[in-house]
Amino acid sequence: MPAITATAPGKAILFGEHAVVYGQPAIAVPVTQVKARAIVSPQPDRPRGWVGVQAPDIGLEKTLLDLPEDDPLSRVIGGVLEVTAIPQPPACTIRITSTIPIAAGLGSGAAISVAIIRAFSEFLGRPLHDEQVSNLTFEVEKLHHGTPSGIDNTVITYETPIYFAKTSTDAGNQFVILKVARPFTLVIGDSGVSSPTALTVGDVRQAWLENSEFFEELFVRTGDLVKHARQALEKGDIQVLGQLMDENQALLEKMGVSSAELDRLIQAARQAGAYGAKLSGGGRGGNMIALVPDSAAGEVAEALFTAGATSTLVTIIRS
Ligand code: MEV
Repeated sequence: MPAITATAPGKAILFGEHAVVYGQPAIAVPVTQVKARAIVSPQPDRPRGWVGVQAPDIGLEKTLLDLPEDDPLSRVIGGVLEVTAIPQPPACTIRITSTIPIAAGLGSGAAISVAIIRAFSEFLGRPLHDEQVSNLTFEVEKLHHGTPSGIDNTVITYETPIYFAKTSTDAGNQFVILKVARPFTLVIGDSGVSSPTALTVGDVRQAWLENSEFFEELFVRTGDLVKHARQALEKGDIQVLGQLMDENQALLEKMGVSSAELDRLIQAARQAGAYGAKLSGGGRGGNMIALVPDSAAGEVAEALFTAGATSTLVTIIRS
């Protein structure tokens, strides 16, 4: 029985984070420069049913049985055993590594789940298809942040730009694959501030409960802007996309999910020639994105460093 490896990319939300949790559409793209990786290796000297779990990045080395039941890794591995109907797998070790920064809005939790599900189900001889991978990842995402919209598991599973609109509590079939008319360049800058999505999603929920009329209006305006952005993407109208990013950022600021560090990076990117810039993901920290002319990517990345970014990456988005 050979070892099996699978990887999954990071993601960036181009438009519509937070409002998407309340039923508005959003647009997300995969970020393939960073990856989560799972390697499942047989352990023929161990008894059937033994599963070792190693995540050296966070100093974890345990068996499945020793992990708390509500640990996301335990849920994802247990979920694969359930869906494949193999309660006693051949003994193996699942080793997880990732270059996706944690709690930074780039989908690290969902990518780890997708990589494990793909590698482990294939190791068991029952590779799951994309919809099953996405659905199971969605279940695990609920542990990470309570009321996920389902956009992260979808874009990371299908690894293509998507227009996502939540239509039910079920994770499947809520998206269309976007045809991007013209490749475009994003510079992603990390504020270096760790910000778990669960916290910002919870805070927005609280604020929405206290001031629902104001927040509903912000969500609806975000949804309208996302529909407009979809058209611009499909037409290749990059300058309009940049303006819409700036408008989306203004709405996110009103939702209370930006921060001084993010604002500084966004401003620096605009001054260095970006068409537009905004936070991406849960906000309050983590990453921001800037849409840039190809020739300005280096200059914008440099400006982000000067304004305090701890790392940057440049990615080209295409269909
Ligand atoms: C997280 O990538 C995006 C949020 O809208 C949460 C979600 O959609 O689940 C903040």
